Amino acid sequence: MSSEQSSQENIHPEFDRMLDRQSKETLLNQEGCVVWLYGLSGSGKSTLANQLERRLHDEGLLVKLLDGDNVRSGLNRNLGFSDEDRSENIRRVAEVAKLFCETGIVTLAAFITPKNELRQLARETIGDDDFIEIYVKCSFETCAERDVKGLYAKAQAGDVKQFTGKDSAFEEPEATIPDLIIDTDAENENESLEKLYQLVSARVSKKS
Ligand code: ADX
Repeated sequence: MSSEQSSQENIHPEFDRMLDRQSKETLLNQEGCVVWLYGLSGSGKSTLANQLERRLHDEGLLVKLLDGDNVRSGLNRNLGFSDEDRSENIRRVAEVAKLFCETGIVTLAAFITPKNELRQLARETIGDDDFIEIYVKCSFETCAERDVKGLYAKAQAGDVKQFTGKDSAFEEPEATIPDLIIDTDAENENESLEKLYQLVSARVSKKS
């Protein structure tokens, strides 16, 4: 028996005893959900998520933003950018997002999430009803022109390996899968934020 198997056998989760989600949502007067934004580095995920967080917060909602660069400097700092590590990154983040969501918190997750199977994993972990999927679409060329963090130039020079869209694949989602596609190549920041805000606020607006 592997040590993983034997340690799993000694874990006795008791979810029934926990104070339920409904009690927390009633306390907060809001419903939890997870807004999962994905797309290339530099596509605008974090910018949009930060602005959305502030706007919803100003309306009195409790919101938590989980962002790739931030989470990778703490919880996931032992992970890199191989397929395996990206998958573990998303698995952990989805589990954490689920915990926030079950506490009644409007949870925003901004991660490249480069493959369909990773988005599916996040959706399955969190549950269909609580999962709002947003593809922040932007061409590699535009992201490289923006190059806010200087990573596209570094990748071009060979100084960043396994770079998404260059030597590590980014899969486009099927058009019908995302709840919303935000095209930051074509829209300005305000237009994109407005679309995102309209969709999310319809789901999470305060009850009274
Ligand atoms: S994911 O693929 O596992 O979902 P995640 O969103 O957590 O990625 O992290 C992406 C961020 O890490 C990027 O925005 C960028 O700042 C940084 N980064 C560093 N190296 C790479 C790389 N090789 N590919 C993509 N992003 C990278």
